[in-house]
Amino acid sequence: MCGIIGYIGPLSATDVVIEGLESLEYRGYDSAGLATIEKNKPIVLKQVGRVSGLRKIVEQSKLKTTIAIGHTRWATHGGVNLKNAHPHTNLDNTIFVVHNGIIENASDIRSKLEIDGYRFVSDTDTEVVPHLIDYYFKQIDDFKAAFEATLRDIKGAYSLVALSQSDPETIYAARLSSPLVIGVGEDENFIASDPSAIIEHTKKVIYLDDYDVVVLTKSSVEVSNLKHDKTKKPNIELLEYDNEQALLGDYPNFMLKEIFETPAAIRNASLGRALPDKNLVKLGGLENVSEQLKYIDRIVIVAMGTSYYAGLVGEYLIEEMAGIPVEVQLASEFNYRDEPFSRSTAIIAISQSGETADTIAALKKVEDYGVLRLGIVNAVGSSISRITDAGVYCHAGPEKAVASTKAFVAQVTVLNLLALKLSEGKTKRFKPLLNELLLLPDKAQAILDSIDDIKKLADKYYGYRDFLYIGRHTSFPAALEGALKLKEISYIHAEGYAAGEMKHGPIAMIDKDFPTFAIATDSPLLDKTYSNIQEIRARCGPVIAIATIGNSEIKKLCDDVIYIPKTETETDPILQVIVMQLFAYFISMKKGFDVDKPRNLAKSVTVE
Ligand code: F6R
Repeated sequence: MCGIIGYIGPLSATDVVIEGLESLEYRGYDSAGLATIEKNKPIVLKQVGRVSGLRKIVEQSKLKTTIAIGHTRWATHGGVNLKNAHPHTNLDNTIFVVHNGIIENASDIRSKLEIDGYRFVSDTDTEVVPHLIDYYFKQIDDFKAAFEATLRDIKGAYSLVALSQSDPETIYAARLSSPLVIGVGEDENFIASDPSAIIEHTKKVIYLDDYDVVVLTKSSVEVSNLKHDKTKKPNIELLEYDNEQALLGDYPNFMLKEIFETPAAIRNASLGRALPDKNLVKLGGLENVSEQLKYIDRIVIVAMGTSYYAGLVGEYLIEEMAGIPVEVQLASEFNYRDEPFSRSTAIIAISQSGETADTIAALKKVEDYGVLRLGIVNAVGSSISRITDAGVYCHAGPEKAVASTKAFVAQVTVLNLLALKLSEGKTKRFKPLLNELLLLPDKAQAILDSIDDIKKLADKYYGYRDFLYIGRHTSFPAALEGALKLKEISYIHAEGYAAGEMKHGPIAMIDKDFPTFAIATDSPLLDKTYSNIQEIRARCGPVIAIATIGNSEIKKLCDDVIYIPKTETETDPILQVIVMQLFAYFISMKKGFDVDKPRNLAKSVTVE
């Protein structure tokens, strides 16, 4: 949420910043802006809307500068307009700040500064920062000290990058509970919300920790920590990130590209981990906690959105295969409730980005409880991967479309492996499931090869205003995920329900204008799902079914059927969601929406 980049070096700073903002745009696209200094003259350019608008005015301005900071906004405080676009400045227009996060005590600071004569032009929380730096700078005449004094006053979450006319060859930055990474170059340096913005220029990065304060010149990187009050020796890491993966190639958009990367996502998530020949699951990331894992008697999974639904699938898998009780909680709820914890509980945070504020807060909440904190994360080097005791990467590759697709598939693959691992070989499912995981990429590919059938279905149903998605057992979370995909990219009202719950209320909504997407793949519960389909049909509700190849009976019950290859109930959600992702995708395209950047949303929700 909100993308930030700063650059200092020999290249055109505005070009580097614009290109960086373009790759960060998935984090927010309400407005974009940058600040730069040319011949000691500060210049701020802002535009409401996409980065492409900012690019146009930057190109017209023909700036030649070597330092710049930029921002692409997802609005939290204050509407989407020019005055609320970042960078924000002090009254003298000498201090420039871009911010991701929320400053919770902004209104108190604002009131105090107003008494001292400071005037505010925006409705944002961020604007207090340049004014507060200004306030301290006028007293102590040392920018770094003024910046640090400001950081000590503000509460909440931030990644902040600042520029000052008084020190035109330095970028200042800080982070607390919001992501920020330094890119180390040759006679140039970068700072950004995530590595995708700088990968084109350098693979050497320094991930920042909470309370880190950074002073960046073109030839030096100084990192100190506000809490420990000392300078740190930064740890430079080498990115193992293939920029090709983050490019669109021949695809019309990232969502379709990422759905088509599903077979590779499954393969990469199980590569070297699912070893049926050796009757073994190898999860290297858990090796250093293998002793602790033996004593775990309760698991709490915390996650948000699509990752939460993957967690719900995980609940069935772990309980049934490993016999360990599992609770899945939305991290945002988990954070504000009191519940008893014993040290034999493990917390598993599931997150594609590894930067979701609520999920990070959940891990921080249990920091002092002595419980094992594990992560199932896609983004390598992200905050969650660094604050957990151990974890398993999803290896799905960068996910850029706002709607999560291949990451869900990789998360459920990893959860299958984790459940098998925790079962310590005791489940009968061990061998069949390990074999199945290796067959799954080809089965996913077979669904992608029948994409035209799903497109036809979308053409038929795109005009409906409401949808129900139903499923049982592991297909229930898949139904929830299917409904979420339709809502978020097509803006069609959709709800997911456990099929058995229909009669307890939702069926009242059913009529000829309210179609149901029924997940009815082969399972011991299929007959029960048939009954639910009959009940819907008896009320004239159109029914689309996802069924297993070979089930000819279901055709008589439903208006439309999409067939998928036979798999195990544990892996079924992986294949089912591909159909529902594509259905939502084609409806959104048919309606002419921007599938990669749906309205009101941003990837990486870094504010609570
Ligand atoms: C939906 C979607 C979101 C995310 C949620 C959690 O398509 O992308 O619901 O799943 O914001 O994000 P991560 O997984 O990055 O923690």
